[in-house]
Amino acid sequence: MENLQKLKHLQELYKLRAFGFDYYSKPKEPQVESKFDMQLPSNFTKLKDIVLNCSLCSLSKSRKNIVFGEGNENATVMFVGEGPGSVEDETGRPFVGRSGQLLSKIIETTLELKREDVYIANIVKCRPPLNRVPTKDEAQTCLPYLLKQIELIDPKIIITLGATAYQYLSGDYDSSISKIRGEIVEFKNAMLMPTFHPSFLLRNPSAKRYVFNDMKKVKALL
Ligand code: URA
Repeated sequence: MENLQKLKHLQELYKLRAFGFDYYSKPKEPQVESKFDMQLPSNFTKLKDIVLNCSLCSLSKSRKNIVFGEGNENATVMFVGEGPGSVEDETGRPFVGRSGQLLSKIIETTLELKREDVYIANIVKCRPPLNRVPTKDEAQTCLPYLLKQIELIDPKIIITLGATAYQYLSGDYDSSISKIRGEIVEFKNAMLMPTFHPSFLLRNPSAKRYVFNDMKKVKALL
């Protein structure tokens, strides 16, 4: 790592500590390269073309639309969910159902950003039947696409929504989401913060306060 980059990392660390963060070192990242050695293009339009024609896993058989992700391709903040639900499958857009409406509200009220300012994607780009959790195999097959999106967007902060998104992206299967949420985890060039999934908040409105606190920390880092 270049000295200047090291210095920038150190500055971020001191800033985080001043905000009262605990800092977690890099968890084991998923070994996605070993599954499919995909040479993906470093161009969003070309990448999207490839993804929209993907049939690498069985989710492609039941999907109506591929949900590539949407938002600002130069975003500072990126959200990663688990996988498309039924409204997302119908429309081809991420987080547009009930939990999506709550996510938009969280972005606007806590981060004081517009939904279009951030980038929103999922671990898997096709809806798992009956909204089941994507299998590890499905997640690992799809992950190179998300990792390429992350590389191209190069966000400062990645917020994973729910346990599944955190586990599959970070490769950390040991930490419980209730313990790790709100903490900063090092992830490639970015800071990753796990928080609860909006659909969990719809079922447990009293947990909204934790997510609001997490987003306050994110706002302080912007
Ligand atoms: N839940 C997710 O995890 N992603 C979506 O896009 C919608 C609901």
